Amino acid sequence: MKQLLLIISILGLFACNRQKDNTKVLQKRIDSLEHKLVDTYKPGFGEFMTGIQAHHTKLWFAGQNKNWKLANFEVHEIMEAIENIQKFQKERKESQVIGMINPALDSINNAIQQKDPVLFKKSYTLLTNTCNACHRDADFEFNVVKIPDAQPFSNQDFKVNELK
Ligand code: HEC
Repeated sequence: MKQLLLIISILGLFACNRQKDNTKVLQKRIDSLEHKLVDTYKPGFGEFMTGIQAHHTKLWFAGQNKNWKLANFEVHEIMEAIENIQKFQKERKESQVIGMINPALDSINNAIQQKDPVLFKKSYTLLTNTCNACHRDADFEFNVVKIPDAQPFSNQDFKVNELK
């Protein structure tokens, strides 16, 4: 009986040690994952905005060329970037007010679906004014957005291309 008890307690000790080892391994893994997470690259607010600036420009020239497929793509790229700002830049207070741009984006999306150039222009003006309203709100009023007057992307054709 005594021997049996001894065996049981030795086995128990082994199990206990193994558990301790497992915990150590897991802790190490968690630490290394936390390290990796801190070092993971995520675009800054300004980088998202630079992307939005390009899509804002392309959206205009797509609309001017009645290239509704491209315009549809560009407006959705802006919508996606706004969602990404809300997701990846949560801690910035400006992210809480960025939703102010959604009505203008919806309006432009509507104009695109209806293939309506007049509504497109009206909505685009509203969109551009909303960019600036938010910049003023964020004490970033010195960055003024306007309707582009020249197409800066010489490597892209904005006309509707019938690829055959
Ligand atoms: C939250 C409201 C908000 C809205 C809406 C908004 N912006 Fe911004 N924008 C900011 C803030 C804040 C910054 C400064 C980012 C930083 O800290 O780097 C900025 C920066 C910029 C920059 C400068 C980027 C750089 O680094 O040079 C451009 C260009 C820009 N926005 C364009 C736009 C356009 C175009 C729209 C509309 C389609 C728009 N923004 C809508 C808040 C906004």
